[in-house]
Amino acid sequence: MLLTDNDKPKFFGRRKGRIIRKAKTTLLERFLPQLRISGEGLLDKDALFPQGVRQICLEIGFGDGQHLAGQALNHPDYGFIGAEVFQNGVANLCTLLTGIKEGTDLPEKITLLPGRSDNIRVFDDDMRLLFARIPDAFLDKVFLLFPDPWPKKRHASRRFVNPDNLKEIARILKPGGIFRVATDHKVYKSWTLRRMKEDPNFRWTAACGSDWKHEPADWVRTKYQMKALREGRRPVFLDFERI
Ligand SMILES: C[S@@+](CC[C@H](N)C(=O)[O-])C[C@H]1O[C@@H](n2cnc3c(N)ncnc32)[C@H](O)[C@@H]1O
Repeated sequence: MLLTDNDKPKFFGRRKGRIIRKAKTTLLERFLPQLRISGEGLLDKDALFPQGVRQICLEIGFGDGQHLAGQALNHPDYGFIGAEVFQNGVANLCTLLTGIKEGTDLPEKITLLPGRSDNIRVFDDDMRLLFARIPDAFLDKVFLLFPDPWPKKRHASRRFVNPDNLKEIARILKPGGIFRVATDHKVYKSWTLRRMKEDPNFRWTAACGSDWKHEPADWVRTKYQMKALREGRRPVFLDFERI
């Protein structure tokens, strides 16, 4: 079923920056379609990743794509779905995957950098529009890294960690699957811990402080994490297991 603009959830962030340079515009036009999740209907594992994958992971709001691109390189036998509304971020992911940036001579056919497997699919729109297309227990991991904190109380309903989204994340994760949230914001940290404690579908895996104050073993640093570190904020890494 096609949604009209009135049916779509309201999105409060930015969809476009002021400038997208020429190489990035070309990547969005000529390379992104190779990765893009479009169409309608339930996602199918074999159609998305015909090469066969051992796990499927989702990253919500991948920003400039460093974590998504890094995880996909480290796990060539996993499939990754990335959702991001901000076009400049999607274009940056394309640069990381192809090596094409401003000043690079554009080849006739734009392909992945050598050594990369074709294991990323991109939904370049609001993640909430993709939820309904993901089958139950489809995913092994869901990453939500440095989400917009919306720290003011009156904006709390805009936070991605909320009962509606958690219901969907619980549905699409396999039992035993992991929902990982990272944040450098105190308000978001306590908000998330409270929401997750109330949710009977999840269990916080931390056994002691060092579990959540340090980067997990398979971690790849993100742009917002680097910014937080430069500005003296210490991120936390919260893993919740789908019961
Ligand atoms: C603060 S940035 C963090 C980006 C990245 N995860 C990082 O750590 O560098 C949050 C990102 O989430 C994206 N975002 C927010 N809500 C979203 C939604 N509903 N669907 C897809 N992306 C979303 C924003 O466009 C933005 O790029």
